[in-house]
Amino acid sequence: MSKKKVLVTGGTGFIGSHTAAVLLDQGCDAVIFDNLSNSKIGVVDRIRRIAARRPDFAMGDIRDKAALSALFRAHDFDAVIHFAGLKAVGESVAKPLPYYENNITGSLALYEAMGNAGVRTLIFSSSATVYGPVNHVPYLEGMPLSATNPYGWTKLMNEQILRDLCAADPSWSVALLRYFNPGGAHRSGLIGEDPNGIPNNLLPYAAKVAAGELERIHIFGDDYDTPDGTGVRDYIHVMDLARGHALALDWLAAKRRGAGAGSGATAINLGTGKGTSVREIIAAFEAACGKTLPAVVGPRRPGDLAATYADAGLARELLGFETEYGIEDICADIWKWQQYAAENGI
Ligand code: NAD
Ligand code: UFG
Repeated sequence: MSKKKVLVTGGTGFIGSHTAAVLLDQGCDAVIFDNLSNSKIGVVDRIRRIAARRPDFAMGDIRDKAALSALFRAHDFDAVIHFAGLKAVGESVAKPLPYYENNITGSLALYEAMGNAGVRTLIFSSSATVYGPVNHVPYLEGMPLSATNPYGWTKLMNEQILRDLCAADPSWSVALLRYFNPGGAHRSGLIGEDPNGIPNNLLPYAAKVAAGELERIHIFGDDYDTPDGTGVRDYIHVMDLARGHALALDWLAAKRRGAGAGSGATAINLGTGKGTSVREIIAAFEAACGKTLPAVVGPRRPGDLAATYADAGLARELLGFETEYGIEDICADIWKWQQYAAENGI
C-alpha cells in the first residue's frame, strides 16, 4: 500500500482498532477520531504496542461540526474510513432517534467537512443487514435493498446519501463495504471486541459463557430450514476485514488515478461466502477454549433470518480480497483476547 494519511472515525472501536493497526503496519498514518461512547482510550496504547507505532488520537464527536473542521484543518488526509456509529439492532428499535441522529446527522456532518476540506475518498461501514428479509442467499451486491429496523435504515440511508453525492459530484470515490458477521480479535490477543453489558451477538456471548461470566448460551431456535436447524451466518475474521479496508483504499486510489477523477460509490460485500450454524460455532468455541459450553434451545429471536451469507466474488474481482482465517481462528483469537482482557481488568 502506498503511504497515506487516513482519518479513522470510530477507530477505538472493534473493527476500527484492528483496521488502524493494519494501516499503521502498512506504513500509513492513522488518525483516530472517536467520542469513546462504545470504546476505551486504552485501546490507542495497545494499538501502538501491536503496530510498533502510535496512531494519533483526537477525542471528538462526528456530530460536532466545529471539531470536524478543526480536525481537517490540522491534518492533510488522503482518505477517510468511517466506522463511527451506533450498532445495536434491538436498541435502535427502542431508541430510534439517537440512532438517526448519530448515524445520519453525524455522517452528514462528516461528509460536509470532507467536501469542504477537499477530501473525497471514503470507505463507509455498511452491513449485510441492507439485503433485508427478501433476498435469497448468497447475497449479491446488485440485489434489491431493504431494512427492517432503524439501525438497518441508517445503513441503507447512508448508502443512498453517498450514491447521490457521487452522482452530483464525480470527484468523490466511495466504497460501501457491506460486512457480514465480524468476529475474532488481533492475533496478539491485545485488542478485540469489548461490548458494554451483556452481548447481543453470538460470538461475544459464547466468550462470556466460556469465561464463566454468563451461565449458558441460548440458541435462538433450532427449527430453521438449515442443515442442523440453527441459524447460519457468514463469520469473517476481523483481521481479514481490516485487510479488506486496506485493499479497498488502494483500489479507490488506483481507480481515481485511472479515471483522473472519482469513481462513484461501489458496494462490495466483505464476507467469506461460507455459512456456519450456531451449533457449529458452539463446537468451534468449545474446541478453542477446551471446555463444554452449556447451551439451551429457546425460541427464535424476532427478526432473525434462517441463513445469510455473502457472494464474495466482487471483493475477489475488484480488490483481490480472499479471507485467510476460518471459524477455528475466530474462536481461538476471541478466547485469547477474552483471557487477556480478564487478566488485565479491561
Ligand atoms: P464499535 O461500537 O466497536 O465501534 C464504533 C466506534 O464509534 C466506537 O468506538 C464508538 O465510541 C464510536 N462512536 C459512536 N458514535 C460516535 C460519534 N457520534 N462520534 C465519534 N465516535 C463515535 O462498532 P464496530 O463493531 O467496530 O462497528 C464499526 C462500524 O461497522 C459501525 O458503523 C457498525 O455499524 C458497522 N458494522 C458492524 C458490524 C458488526 O457486527 N460489528 C456489522 C456490520 C457493520
Ligand atoms: N444467536 C443465538 N444466540 C445468541 C445470539 C445469537 O442463537 O445469544 C444466533 C442468531 O439467531 C443468529 C446467529 O446466532 O442465527 C448470529 O447472531 P448475531 O446476533 O451474532 O448476529 P446477526 O447475524 O443477528 O447480526 C449481525 C450484527 C448486525 C448486522 C448483521 C449483518 O449484529 O448488526 O450481523 O451484518 F447487521
